[in-house]
Amino acid sequence: MKSLKRIGILTGGGDCPGLNAVIRSIAKPAMTHFGSTVIGIQDGFEGLVEGKMRELTPRDVGGIVNLGGTILGTSNKGDPFHFPVETPQGIEVLDYSEHAIRNYRDWQLDALIAIGGDGTMHIVDKFTDIGLNFIGVPKTIDNDLSATDVTFGFDSALTVATEAIDRLHTTGSAHHRVMVVEVMGRYAGWIALESGIAGGADVILIPEIPYDIEKVCSAIVARGRRGKRFSVIVVAEGALPKGGDRVVREPAGGKSVVERLGGVGDQISRELGGFLEMDIRVTVLGHLQRGGSPSTFDRCLGSRFGVKAVELIEMGAFGQMACLKGRHITSVPIEDAVRSLNLIDPAGEMVRHAEALGIMLGR
Ligand code: F6P
Repeated sequence: MKSLKRIGILTGGGDCPGLNAVIRSIAKPAMTHFGSTVIGIQDGFEGLVEGKMRELTPRDVGGIVNLGGTILGTSNKGDPFHFPVETPQGIEVLDYSEHAIRNYRDWQLDALIAIGGDGTMHIVDKFTDIGLNFIGVPKTIDNDLSATDVTFGFDSALTVATEAIDRLHTTGSAHHRVMVVEVMGRYAGWIALESGIAGGADVILIPEIPYDIEKVCSAIVARGRRGKRFSVIVVAEGALPKGGDRVVREPAGGKSVVERLGGVGDQISRELGGFLEMDIRVTVLGHLQRGGSPSTFDRCLGSRFGVKAVELIEMGAFGQMACLKGRHITSVPIEDAVRSLNLIDPAGEMVRHAEALGIMLGR
């Protein structure tokens, strides 16, 4: 059995509902069964580089299973291998991994559990190669990690998006409008596709199927001929037109480490406006999809991931990421987890089912 004396936890990248459930479910068994000291690292990897940490008490982790956000804070600017540092010449991106390694050693951590998405898992992979005892726990509303059947946070985001689509339906139908709703998901269309199916959308546009705006238009006109005087279009922020580019709100490298997407809803509204007489309105759901309480599913999945992470430390199975396969929580080597993104197969079952329901997917 490996030493569980000092366990570090950090939450990296964008937050999502369920992070606190994971923190609690790591800390509880670690403190109760193994008498471990649990160290909360603040603001993700930034905290590991800058030495921001504190010991968590049972009180810190009590009553948080239902809370959104993360009690530890997070950051998506703190990759220790590409750390933004202010110099007299401006912001320079430097390798600060030595600082992170020094803090890990100075705090005498036996293991560190990093809860995060694709970016976080890449960092975990690098530290594992260096020889630090890291465990990964997958989170993201985007559900784009391929080594787990689903990430926690996704279900909560779907709930928000589906409720929004329901609401847009009633107002869109009352005013005979085209309602465009832009959802998150980065390069994956999972939020758009699943909330669109659940909300009875008429058109769903996802990054994996570049859209043909004339065909979208024809679908709306055809609905009109059938007496349907309104339409709901769900568009993923990463959707792009056939032969065109995706809409980037802010390129990578400025304030943001990765490119920021957003604005495709407005683009579609302009494009449709060139063909249609109907009123078109755009709603961008944005960070509403990331905020608030986790769903029942995410609380449960997050809690099970946390317990699994402690078990992995106990077994000395470092360099592993907890994951869901079928109904079981298991683990995969981190390098497998970061190999590819979980994207929708345009010829796959879910797409086929959506089309069987009469939903237009832009092609
Ligand atoms: O990865 C989660 C996510 O919410 C994406 O869906 C979205 O593109 C991005 O993060 C937004 O990031 P930020 O919070 O930096 O605006």
